[in-house]
Amino acid sequence: MLSHVRTAALWGIDAFPVDCEIDVGPGLPGFALVGLPDPAARESRERVWPALRNSGFRIPDRHVTANLAPAGRRKEGAAVDFAIALGILIATNQAPAERLDHTAAIGELALDGTLRPVAGTLALTECLWRSGVKRLLCAAAAAPEAALVDGLEVLAAVRLEEAVTWLRGGELARAEAAPPDPDEDGGEDLAEVRGQFMARRALEIAAAGGHHVLFVGPPGAGKSMLARRLPGVLPALEPDEAVAVTRLHSAAGLRAPGRGLMRRRPFRAPHHSLSRAGLVGGGGPPRPGELSLAHGGVLFLDELSEYPRSSLDALREPLDSGSVWIVRASGSARFPARALLVCAMNPCPCGWLGHPKRACRCTPADLARYAARVSGPVLDRLDLQIEVPALTSEELLAAAGGESSGSCRARVLAARERQRERGTLNARLSNAALREHCSLDTAGRRLIADAVDRGGMSARAVHRALRVARTIADLAGEDRVSALRIAEALQYRAYEARRVTSAL
Ligand SMILES: Nc1ncnc2c1ncn2[C@@H]1O[C@H](COP(=O)(O)OP(=O)(O)OP(=O)(O)O)[C@@H](O)[C@H]1O
Ligand SMILES: [Mg+2]
Repeated sequence: MLSHVRTAALWGIDAFPVDCEIDVGPGLPGFALVGLPDPAARESRERVWPALRNSGFRIPDRHVTANLAPAGRRKEGAAVDFAIALGILIATNQAPAERLDHTAAIGELALDGTLRPVAGTLALTECLWRSGVKRLLCAAAAAPEAALVDGLEVLAAVRLEEAVTWLRGGELARAEAAPPDPDEDGGEDLAEVRGQFMARRALEIAAAGGHHVLFVGPPGAGKSMLARRLPGVLPALEPDEAVAVTRLHSAAGLRAPGRGLMRRRPFRAPHHSLSRAGLVGGGGPPRPGELSLAHGGVLFLDELSEYPRSSLDALREPLDSGSVWIVRASGSARFPARALLVCAMNPCPCGWLGHPKRACRCTPADLARYAARVSGPVLDRLDLQIEVPALTSEELLAAAGGESSGSCRARVLAARERQRERGTLNARLSNAALREHCSLDTAGRRLIADAVDRGGMSARAVHRALRVARTIADLAGEDRVSALRIAEALQYRAYEARRVTSAL
């Protein structure tokens, strides 16, 4: 006999609906699973058989064929276990199929018949809802996450037999959506940072307009400390961003299943030993890299000069386009990649170049090698290049630190509100929109002409500086971008300009 149960599967972080067709027919007892399952899905027989037996059901003594359609698409993970088990029970007349209309089942089976939650529940559920499914049977532990999909009826079962009892006309608990994560601070506040006014200003501009930042300074000046406080001045995720970020983190297995929407922006600080695929994504099945895991939040590259140049170069295109395309023989995937980049590095290998009291021991050759490690095009994309000097004793011993993250965040929110009518953050304004919202007066034109003619600034660098100037004006609540704002924006590219002149 034939049965048919709807379910869904993941590939990378993408979910798609799957029809699980089961045929129980003549032939030697056995099980064949077809439809490009990956190893975890292929092993489902080893889970489904004991789960059926330990739940008190009859094991079919004929040949069972399970087809996961569409057969041409690879499927990853164990979420299909539940549908296979239900399909077998229906095909062997141990359960009726009537209640499965517009209903899907997702879940992994433990050998004792318990249903386990699966990674990517939100993505799986959303794709089923879009395909017309009105009701979902799933593991109780994952149900609050599945119930985030508005309008879907989610029935939570702890064990396989409970779902079968429901098929036979019994009751199952209807799950409520999990509450969103708290939007509390991680406890790291800008108030703890002493001095470093320029770097604090840069954090505020970065958070307000979405501009990438680089901190350069001697060891122990507070670069890492500042960078880690960037999420604290960013607003909470917008509702649609929250869904996208939660879906991605759930599918990447970074969140315990069953939790609600994320509110805090992600902060990823990968070590420089990570591979290129680890940074931008890759592999088969394709996995999102740290850049995508930071989507909607912050990617912190500490000790920037230690990252392999090829990895940094691979960031260039995704940073511009906001997504990463991974193409493999086994299938392609597109990952979102809109993260705010914050980088930190020392000015030279020994770390003390430019320090007022300590001597730098690096040779000119050391300096040249060091400067060559960070590629120019990557540096070009870091709009706020800030020198973070060593603290003076007065700054260090001052009674209080600076302003708190909370009050800085309030200004960031106001500046973001002003950008809302433009439809995008300033860092992503198109050139046409930039011309419209950032018209220059004579003094502003003169400043830009100087930066290009004398400073050798590239066209892209000019446009990027203008976007920063727009954000500075927004923070000040100004409609026009005055020469003063342009001068401030240009000053933030000083490190790059110095590098150009020192290389000559
Ligand atoms: N501006 C500052 N205000 C308060 N404390 C600071 C400041 N700068 C450094 N510190 C103290 O020094 C510690 C080290 O700072 P941090 O790790 O940020 O330095 P860094 O600039 O990243 O150094 P490195 O170049 O070695 O990575 C901090 O945890 C903090 O205790
Ligand atoms: Mg550091």
